[in-house]
Amino acid sequence: MQTSFLSKLHVGVIMDGNGRWATQQGLPRGLGHEAGVDATRRVMEAAPGMGVGTLTLFAFSSDNWRRPDEEVATLMHLLEIYLRSETHQLVEKGIRLNLIGRRDRLPPGLREEIDRAEAMTAAGDRLHVRLAVDYSARDAILAAAARISAGEDLTRPGFSRLVSGDIVRDVDLVIRTSGEQRLSDFMLWESAYAELFFTQRMWPDFTGEDLAEALAAFGGRQRRFGTTPSQAALKVAAAHTMPAQPVAA
Ligand code: IPE
Ligand code: IPE
Ligand code: MG
Repeated sequence: MQTSFLSKLHVGVIMDGNGRWATQQGLPRGLGHEAGVDATRRVMEAAPGMGVGTLTLFAFSSDNWRRPDEEVATLMHLLEIYLRSETHQLVEKGIRLNLIGRRDRLPPGLREEIDRAEAMTAAGDRLHVRLAVDYSARDAILAAAARISAGEDLTRPGFSRLVSGDIVRDVDLVIRTSGEQRLSDFMLWESAYAELFFTQRMWPDFTGEDLAEALAAFGGRQRRFGTTPSQAALKVAAAHTMPAQPVAA
């Protein structure tokens, strides 16, 4: 864990609209997922220069197992190919990659690529990318609760660590593409005070400029964490003169 990530923004992205993007062009949905990989690459490229330290990308939800077998197989295959062919570029770019979510239901070949990519990129210190695959926030919370009842310390930071599987800053901004305005079981605990940004843009069309637009909107919002607007304004002024806190307030 690099503490430098904690002083920069944590952005979560619900990468939605691949299927509709393809259908609109008369293409099979699988080609939408392929085009979605290109968008993911663009966002990883742009994020470190925009003050983002952690990027959590929702790639496959636990409910996505309910899709047709063929589409699930395509998605698993794409993930495996992506990791196999691009891990070395992640290393070059200083990206640390981790998978969050269940691994036991993934194809063995994909699990091997994940283990290899995590080991190879462990020293990355420019950007922490967390790929959410077979991920369900409710299941993550349940799993953390099960460990609490087994004797773990019951505090918010301790529980956050169990839910997130690491020391991760609460998510600052959640972006969802394709016009949908829901969380679909994504980071429910970590996004307690996240700002939400919804865009009509389909994920395969998303670019670094779209990320900049989302961050600009985020920058224009006042985060109050329960305080009054004037208290929150003072806190922002104070934050500029104080060292960054490891975990969002
Ligand atoms: C997001 O795009 C990718 C995954 C959920 C795996 P979708 O596949 O959900 O695309 P739409 O929502 O059907 O257009
Ligand atoms: C959420 O998208 C999961 C991912 C983007 C990976 P879905 O497209 O599966 O969500 P719903 O079913 O429309 O809520
Ligand atoms: Mg969708």
